[in-house]
Amino acid sequence: MRVNPPEHATSNCKLDSFFRPFAKRLHENHMSRLGIASTMRLAYSYNRLKFGRQDDWRRALYQTQLSTLLEENGGLSRPPVEMRDGWALDTTMSLPHLDRILEDSEKIIAERSGERRSSTGTYRSYFQDVWTPADLEKHPSFLDFATSSDVLSAVSHYLQSIPALSTTLPSGIRFVESNAVFDDQPEKPHDSQLYHIDYYSLPNVYILVLLRDTTIEHGPWTFLPRGVSQKARRALNYWNRQRGYRVSDEDIYSVVDRKEVIEFCYPRGTVLFIESSGCFHYGSRNSIKPRFQLMIGYTGACRTDFTEAILPHKVYPVADADSRLRKMVLNKNMLE
Ligand SMILES: [Fe+2]
Repeated sequence: MRVNPPEHATSNCKLDSFFRPFAKRLHENHMSRLGIASTMRLAYSYNRLKFGRQDDWRRALYQTQLSTLLEENGGLSRPPVEMRDGWALDTTMSLPHLDRILEDSEKIIAERSGERRSSTGTYRSYFQDVWTPADLEKHPSFLDFATSSDVLSAVSHYLQSIPALSTTLPSGIRFVESNAVFDDQPEKPHDSQLYHIDYYSLPNVYILVLLRDTTIEHGPWTFLPRGVSQKARRALNYWNRQRGYRVSDEDIYSVVDRKEVIEFCYPRGTVLFIESSGCFHYGSRNSIKPRFQLMIGYTGACRTDFTEAILPHKVYPVADADSRLRKMVLNKNMLE
């Protein structure tokens, strides 16, 4: 039996209602009013007020009960994935439910790809999320993968907490087609085609799954490892008020050797675990062949942005029979 349906809910917290207008202003233009670092600190303090209990509980469970929670959730099926320097690549095709995801993906691609959706504005026109809330139940393989013990073990260790699927930005699950044909400004990189570091949550972990073979012509997700990224962040004074959210290649490569760049060009079914809040990255640049990628976004309970005060919250389906761990991942507000 379902406890909650996959629909949107708006936060009715009184604190949010009062604070929402300020939060919106602070968030405008990628937190430019106070600068990203200061806004993140403020948002973290605000979110501690709202989610401090959940955060403490998730961290304590990680410390004391992770192996039991993983076991109750089906246990590990293979050697663990370990993220180092902000990332891990898995080319083994052995993660649970990956084969089901790839099969379901072909149906979604056949049904929805190749057409620019009218709801997409000019912002990131080259990048379309074709996922719908109904897919959560129509294609359970995606949530089964996202909540499998093998995947959650890696993410939990990185977060040092029990993770939650993001309910605002980034969407917890995105099924993305990147296509240069949709791009309103194909002549030069813009928006997320430029280097940036995500500010949603510290840390924020993405799992990216290639749904088709991906080469340079598909506009691969491209990143710098964490150590190099953090050096560049300090050198460029990035996240300070004087700097914009997006950084030009020229600026990045004035402080980073191009040899450090990693392009996520691999066969279908390859999985990348990455801390997008620690690693400079960009993607979907000049996707002259359409790129199909699954993007799963996890955060801790206490984020560093105000999106939970501003945006409607996604609600993921939870069943009574689900394990404790799965319930916690799908329901960020859960408490003992
Ligand atoms: Fe990003």
